[in-house]
Amino acid sequence: MTNTSEFMKQNKGRVLSGMRPTGRLHLGNFMGALANWVKLQHEYECYFFIADYHALTTDYANTENLRRNTEEVALDWLGAGLDPERCVLFLQSAVPQHADLHLRFSMITPVSWLERVPTYKEQQENLSEKDLSTYGFLGYPLLQAADILLYTPKFVPVGQDQVVHVELTREIARRFNQFYKLGEREVLPEPQVLLTPAPKLPGTDGRKMSKSYGNTIELTDSEATVRQKLKTMVTDPARIRRTDAGDPDRCPVGDLHKVFSTPERMQAVNEGCRSAGIGCIECKGWAADALVQILGPIQQRRASFTPAQAMEVLRAGSERARRRAEATMQDVDTAMRMPKLDAAVSEVAR
Ligand code: TRP
Ligand code: SF4
Repeated sequence: MTNTSEFMKQNKGRVLSGMRPTGRLHLGNFMGALANWVKLQHEYECYFFIADYHALTTDYANTENLRRNTEEVALDWLGAGLDPERCVLFLQSAVPQHADLHLRFSMITPVSWLERVPTYKEQQENLSEKDLSTYGFLGYPLLQAADILLYTPKFVPVGQDQVVHVELTREIARRFNQFYKLGEREVLPEPQVLLTPAPKLPGTDGRKMSKSYGNTIELTDSEATVRQKLKTMVTDPARIRRTDAGDPDRCPVGDLHKVFSTPERMQAVNEGCRSAGIGCIECKGWAADALVQILGPIQQRRASFTPAQAMEVLRAGSERARRRAEATMQDVDTAMRMPKLDAAVSEVAR
């Protein structure tokens, strides 16, 4: 990391973001986060991590897939083009400072701040089959605040759904800085949201692509699988017979074309659909072509890593992340005037 471009990007500030280890990623994860991260790694000093502690907040009772899911996400990251030479890729639980800073924050945060976070009640209702009346689940956004502030980033790239968590992070930083100071310097500067534009990406059933709906196209889906999934994808409901004209603006397949197809192909879809000049089968074949083109290189790159290599990338990244996190915790300890034992130890050794 000594060449000029690596040096230049240090000055633009740090970027931090994370993802829960949900298992194999899908096109929605790619378009909503990963593709953006791949771009950012060329411009900023980037830290990206797998939030395995966060997985525990909802799935503490089912941890049997945690390891494999973490491996799959790491492989998908490498496949998508995140490059360990250009950014720090790490595992949350391998950097104990996340838990430490979370604990410090838990001391200064009024419970009402956490109960007010809209995702708290929403998720409890959405995941009613799980018991989410736990201390850890209430603290979800506080752990996220620790994840972020440990790296004193300038920017946090997230989708709209995470903006409230970054807002809370800023409030926590402000509160911490009011209580604890290091001269003129702010120990935990407030980061800014870098909102990731998310194109409308429907799943095979026409609803938003989401793992919980079971309507996804995964980054690892083979060409045959992609074509099969497209075949059964819902279309403009008004286009019942081949001879009916349709409207790509009312069709989930049309939405896929808008995201992934060339302007020329898009024009052919628009004209062909509205005049009943093409059939849905042909149109879906074109959409599948576009997806296969995107996925091919991702899958090739992914296949060039073994799971063990992907975990080694996380191990090495976590070492780098720990150094960065340790520097912040030193400031935190000093500002909080925590007792120090290092001096006492060296006294005894003398
Ligand atoms: N809560 C985020 C999500 O569900 C994941 C996450 C955890 C995160 N810690 C973070 C994102 C810190 C950005 C920064 O997507
Ligand atoms: Fe949808 Fe294409 Fe069929 Fe039109 S032709 S309804 S855009 S699948």
